[in-house]
Amino acid sequence: MVNVKKVVDELEPYVPGRSIEEIANKYGIAPNKIIKMGSNENPLGPSGKALRSIEHYLSSISQYPEAYSKDLIKELASYAGTSPANLIVGGDGADEIIDVLGKTLIEPKDEFIVPIPSYMYYEFTLKIHGGIPVFAKWDIARNSLDVNSVIDSLSVRTKIIFLCTPNNPTGGLIDKKDIITVLNSTNALVVVDEAYFEFAGVNNVKLLEEHDNLLILRTFSKVLGLAGMRIGYAISNPYLIQYMNRVKPVFSLTKLSQITALATLQDKEYIEKSTEIGIKSREFLYKALSKFDTLNVLSSKSNFLLVDVRNTGMKSKLLTEELLKRGIIVRDCSSFRGLDDYWIRVSVGTLKEDQRFIEILEEIIG
Ligand SMILES: Cc1ncc(COP(=O)(O)O)c(C=O)c1O
Repeated sequence: MVNVKKVVDELEPYVPGRSIEEIANKYGIAPNKIIKMGSNENPLGPSGKALRSIEHYLSSISQYPEAYSKDLIKELASYAGTSPANLIVGGDGADEIIDVLGKTLIEPKDEFIVPIPSYMYYEFTLKIHGGIPVFAKWDIARNSLDVNSVIDSLSVRTKIIFLCTPNNPTGGLIDKKDIITVLNSTNALVVVDEAYFEFAGVNNVKLLEEHDNLLILRTFSKVLGLAGMRIGYAISNPYLIQYMNRVKPVFSLTKLSQITALATLQDKEYIEKSTEIGIKSREFLYKALSKFDTLNVLSSKSNFLLVDVRNTGMKSKLLTEELLKRGIIVRDCSSFRGLDDYWIRVSVGTLKEDQRFIEILEEIIG
């Protein structure tokens, strides 16, 4: 047998959200009867303009895509309020950008800081590059960052600090002043993950004007409705972006991904409607879930809600299983570092899907 790298041998597999196909096969439910509220996607589906653009370009898939996605980057600069030189686009979503950061910055035994609970892919990916995770604290009671725990975690070996706002899976925002405190406390790169910023109505792009050690991470997988096309991007200073472009897989962004991303950005009506429905659905679900005596729901600025289910007497694994049997996918959060066995994360659906979910939940824990 070949010897795999020690870090790979010791790596705990990443636990992804469940897919409709997987649940349809396992429980014998027709795919069109399954409601997916587990991966924070856009419940409206993709933009109609994106769909039509694919049809137009299908015959071009025999050719390599354009390596630097110039047209897309130009449109993206206008969407994000920045310049093309400040942007990099990744072809396996924001996840690819995290990997590119590992390739660009992490030497074996360098440290990176993650306040927990937060998005698990940072830890999973940077460990493969030899990075050592240092865990700071997300304050669940306030649903915000414990900024002192981040400052206390800094060391001479810190290379990257991840600040996710709104935070996945808790939905809370990080105060701008706390982000500035972290930026001013270190020369390490501060990655502000804004995968869900559209639902919060705030962003931190302006901070790039004064801080060279900031990178903002974004994705097309959430409000922009293209999770299956795998498109992510980052905004930072041109110096770092140019190094990241050197190591990024050259053709990772497929032709169809570039085309659909561009068409979606041009579909302002779709983006507006998706954001509006996401926020309405979140508020509906927050109210409906808060009415259950046995549930404790965290207030959220994103398109999902974190729910403490311990008073139902069920662990999250059992409750999510009962929901799956009835065709509803939500996220069992027991694999999230920093959460125990009693949390589920519910993504927004359409209002009809939300109502169906609440009815089924009543059946189970009512
Ligand atoms: C906070 C956060 N960052 C990044 C990502 C990765 O998104 P992508 O689908 O673009 O890889 C996700 C996906 O769920 C996320 O929740």
